Amino acid sequence: MRADPDRAFGVQAFGVYVHWPFCLSKCPYCDFNSHVRHAAIDEDRFARAFAREIETTAQRIGPREVTSIFLGGGTPSLMQPSTVGAILDAIGKHWRVAPDAEVSLEANPTSVEATRFRGYRSAGVNRVSLGVQALDDVSLKTLGRLHSAQEAMDAVAIARSAFDRYSFDLIYARPGQTPAMWEAELRRAIGEAAEHLSLYQLTIEAETPFFALHRAGKLQTPDESASRALYDVTQSVCAELGLPAYEISNHARPGAECKHNLVYWRGQEYAGIGPGAHGRLDIGGTRYAVATEKRPESWLMRVEASGTGVVTDDRLNSEERADEFLLMGLRLAEGIDPRRYQALAGRSLDPSRIAILREEGAIIVDADGRLRVTQAGFPVLDAVVADLAA
Ligand SMILES: C[S@@+](CC[C@H](N)C(=O)[O-])C[C@H]1O[C@@H](n2cnc3c(N)ncnc32)[C@H](O)[C@@H]1O
Ligand code: SF4
Repeated sequence: MRADPDRAFGVQAFGVYVHWPFCLSKCPYCDFNSHVRHAAIDEDRFARAFAREIETTAQRIGPREVTSIFLGGGTPSLMQPSTVGAILDAIGKHWRVAPDAEVSLEANPTSVEATRFRGYRSAGVNRVSLGVQALDDVSLKTLGRLHSAQEAMDAVAIARSAFDRYSFDLIYARPGQTPAMWEAELRRAIGEAAEHLSLYQLTIEAETPFFALHRAGKLQTPDESASRALYDVTQSVCAELGLPAYEISNHARPGAECKHNLVYWRGQEYAGIGPGAHGRLDIGGTRYAVATEKRPESWLMRVEASGTGVVTDDRLNSEERADEFLLMGLRLAEGIDPRRYQALAGRSLDPSRIAILREEGAIIVDADGRLRVTQAGFPVLDAVVADLAA
């Protein structure tokens, strides 16, 4: 049997992702697995189901040391702190949790949710990620957000007082946004962000209200060259102010990167718990791509009946694993180790393709052999990956 390439490359992280699938309202740009319910949600019932699915997953894969936990959504900050506590306790009951594990929770920056931050900290959360999205009320209204800019900044201040680590998200390339406007907003944002910012270009997702508006010409987004200018502003301002990109949309002070998201991008192992969660599990030297039922109530019934909501459970062959490694790893500023690709794929990357992409300025190869996408290459990342994987 071939040696496990992860072990050969010292990759030992294990993350647990838990999905809370409910929101107070559906934002018109969002295609995440999030649902609005007008009746009260039975959090205790969900907490029991989360615990059950954690137990089933632990029985399947065996002992692990959890290095990061991420409660994402949806809007996890709608959960009571006791629900979060019950989920974290269940994880700790079935796996060992590393003493320095990162435990993040995604929060919407409304005043109601911010009142729960201290409760989350007592439950074991040590990092929050706030969906601020924009620093002006007109943009927030366009994005369909329920909070004002002031409310978001107040929530950031509460996060700062409750947690050593926090991050927030902004969406840029919004309708009518110029590079100068974005630069001013970004400089203000960095003044508020201690160590980490996620900066996403607005994507028009199929089957969202924004998609229909965009198609009807009622929502104008920046064209390719304007988007490129906005992207370049993002990179230069963040680098100048000490938060360089460590991933295509994520910026941090060195050492403050989100450990959990690094698990995904470095191709490490993680369990996905809750409705519509994805996982990558390593069992007996084989990697499985696992996903659960998306509809919250159907997921609940499946878990109550059988202990798991898993509906997709695919063994990845070496080619699929290697492609995924490339796709995720090249998003990172640190790039990839081509020897790990070789260990996974059983073949090396094509030197002639590497040479062409280097000549085009899309990638560089470091002195230590790591292959990285350049700032010029990031806007065409998909094409770079497709070329290397071919
Ligand atoms: C799924 S949301 C969860 C966080 C939380 N519910 C919130 O909205 O504040 C995670 C992040 O994805 C980003 N996002 C969602 N849809 C997007 C889109 N169509 N384009 C760009 N960013 C998007 C937003 O910045 C959001 O904060
Ligand atoms: S962006 Fe966040 S709050 Fe809005 S619908 Fe998506 S998950 Fe819910």
